Amino acid sequence: MSSGVVTVIGSINMDLVTEAAQFPNKGETILGKSFSTIPGGKGANQAVASSKLGANVNLIGCVGNDAFAKTLNQHFETQGINTNYIEEAPGEPTGVASITIAENDNHIIVVPGANHAVTPQLVEKYEHVIAASETILLQFEIPIESVEKAVELANKHGVRVILNPAPVQPISISVMASVDYITPNEHELAVLLDDEEKKTFYEQNREKFVITHGSKGVEYFENGQSHLVPGFSVKVVDTTGAGDSFNGALAVALTRGDSLAEGCLFGNAVGALSVSKLGAQSGMPSKEEVEMFIQTKSV
Ligand code: RIB
Repeated sequence: MSSGVVTVIGSINMDLVTEAAQFPNKGETILGKSFSTIPGGKGANQAVASSKLGANVNLIGCVGNDAFAKTLNQHFETQGINTNYIEEAPGEPTGVASITIAENDNHIIVVPGANHAVTPQLVEKYEHVIAASETILLQFEIPIESVEKAVELANKHGVRVILNPAPVQPISISVMASVDYITPNEHELAVLLDDEEKKTFYEQNREKFVITHGSKGVEYFENGQSHLVPGFSVKVVDTTGAGDSFNGALAVALTRGDSLAEGCLFGNAVGALSVSKLGAQSGMPSKEEVEMFIQTKSV
């Protein structure tokens, strides 16, 4: 069975990753251990995860006219992603994320640059791409109106929508009602449910919410019951992109017809493998690696 078409509409960044023994205090200068430039951005990370897991992936997004853009476009091609819908934003630099890894955690500052140019008009231009997809994967590193436009077009064409609300910002009930799945972590969920009406919506629509709990696993709701799919225990090197790996994997699993429970298990395995290497995209596993990992962990 074909794995189907997953279209990601989202951010593309170059991650500037510094490893250090500890985070500096305010106003302090410290020496780091290593520095790497690694392709990133939540949209691009989810696209790479999905492509490595066997989906046919379109990435709709924007880069600048600079050296990072060239490197990223070449990289996406080696990852099997359709780059025809990545546009150059005039006068904007490619998005960057300044990431510090220390003390088993990270600090990230994103400067979106060209990601601001993913406008509702740009999304509309690619309506035919959305219409020809099985699943649309969205995050919040592009303008919120563009996310809303993508949801509207996906609904018009009966296309499944997975919304990963990161970095989180409040959204309307009508957007939440129009997507198939929302995948917040606990903190993001609390921000989404910022009033009583939204809390009531959540209680009445819990099957839409797939909640990630870090290494503890993922919670989903079915037949009025909450289910926790436990995470896999691995040696953690870098958690950057763990959520993106999970979302990319969930999109692939649901697109190929897996159940939500199977999708969460698959997503947990992909997330676990991705955190065992430095960099969001460098650790993303192939479908075969994931199958082998799940087998090894279940014996
Ligand atoms: O989710 C991880 C990503 O967040 C990084 O790759 C960085 O680019 C930021 O967008």
